[in-house]
Amino acid sequence: MKGILLAGGHGTRLFPLTNIISKHLLPIYDKPMVYYPLSILMLAGIKEVLIITTMRDLPSYKGLFGDGSHLGITISYEVQDQPNGIAEAFLVGKEFIGDDSVGLILGDNIFYGQGLVEILRSATQRSEGATVFGYRVKDPHRFGVAEFDEDYKVISIEEKPQNPRSNVAVTGLYFYDNKVVSIAESISPSDRGELEITDINKAYLSMDQLHIEPLGRGFAWLDTGTHNSLVDASRFIETIENRQGLKVACIEEIAYRMSYISAGQLKELAKRYKNDYGEYLMSIAEQDGEDFFTVKKQNLHKTVERIIG
Ligand code: TTP
Repeated sequence: MKGILLAGGHGTRLFPLTNIISKHLLPIYDKPMVYYPLSILMLAGIKEVLIITTMRDLPSYKGLFGDGSHLGITISYEVQDQPNGIAEAFLVGKEFIGDDSVGLILGDNIFYGQGLVEILRSATQRSEGATVFGYRVKDPHRFGVAEFDEDYKVISIEEKPQNPRSNVAVTGLYFYDNKVVSIAESISPSDRGELEITDINKAYLSMDQLHIEPLGRGFAWLDTGTHNSLVDASRFIETIENRQGLKVACIEEIAYRMSYISAGQLKELAKRYKNDYGEYLMSIAEQDGEDFFTVKKQNLHKTVERIIG
C-alpha cells in the first residue's frame, strides 16, 4: 500500500500565520504539524509516501524530509497548483499509486489513542473497498457526516450538511483500493468548485464497499485549522508528553520501533539535535534494541496470566 500526505491549500483561516509558510509546517508543541500525519502513515506500515503540496512550499518539505531514507522510507513529492479538492490527490498522485492500494491523510489531522496501530493495520489489510473513520463531534455540519443503521452500517454520507443526520464526522484519514483513481477521474467538481472526497466515499457506498471504523471517545482526533485549535492541539501534546515522558508522533522513534532503521542510525539522528529532542532519541536508541511491540505483547500475557490466575 502507498501513502499520500496532502499538505496543500492556502490555510486562509490561519492568516497571517500562513501568509508565507505552509500551515502544515507550523509547530504543534515540539515538532512540525506534518510529523503527526506522517507518523500515522508510518504506523500503518506504509513505507512509500507521496507528499503533495504547493509550488511555494515544496522546497521546505524537501528540506525537512529529503527522500525519507533517514527514516527507512521513501518520500517523493508532487505539486497541487490550487486547492481543487481533497480528491484531486488521486489525480495528482495517479502515477505514484500505480496498481497499488492507497492511504490518504490530510496534513492537518492529528490522531491519538490506544489501539490505533491495530485499527490502522486492519484497515491496510482489507484488500477491497474503502475504509474511513468515524468520530463523534459537537459540530458535525463542518465535516463529511455519516449516517448509520443499528449494525453501524453506513446508510448515507453528506458533505457539510446544514441538517446533519448524525454527530459522526468522517475524519481526514482514508484507505482505498486501486479503484479510487478511476473514481476520482469520473467525479466532477462540486458547487464550491472542489473534487470532493465525500463523492469518492459515496461511490464506494453505492458499491456497498464503504467500511467505517468508529474511533471511540478514548481517541483524540484534532484538526488544527484555526488559531484556537492550533493552540489547543499544542497544549494537548504538551500535556501528554510531559506527563508520560514519551513523545507523540516522533517519526524517528517510530522508524526505529517499526525496524525501518537500526539503533545505530537512530543514534546518528539523535546527534543532529543538541536539545531535549536529541536526548529523547538517544535514550530510545540506548534501550538495548528493546522491541516496543514485543514488550507490549509480553505485558499483555502477564496481564492475562494475572487475570486468569
Ligand atoms: P481545508 O481546511 O479545507 O483548507 P486549508 O487547509 O487551505 O485551510 P483554510 O480553510 O483555512 O483555507 O483543508 C483541509 C486539509 O486538506 C488541509 O491539510 C489542506 C488540505 N487540502 C489540500 O491539500 N488541497 C486541497 O485542495 C484541499 C481542499 C485541502
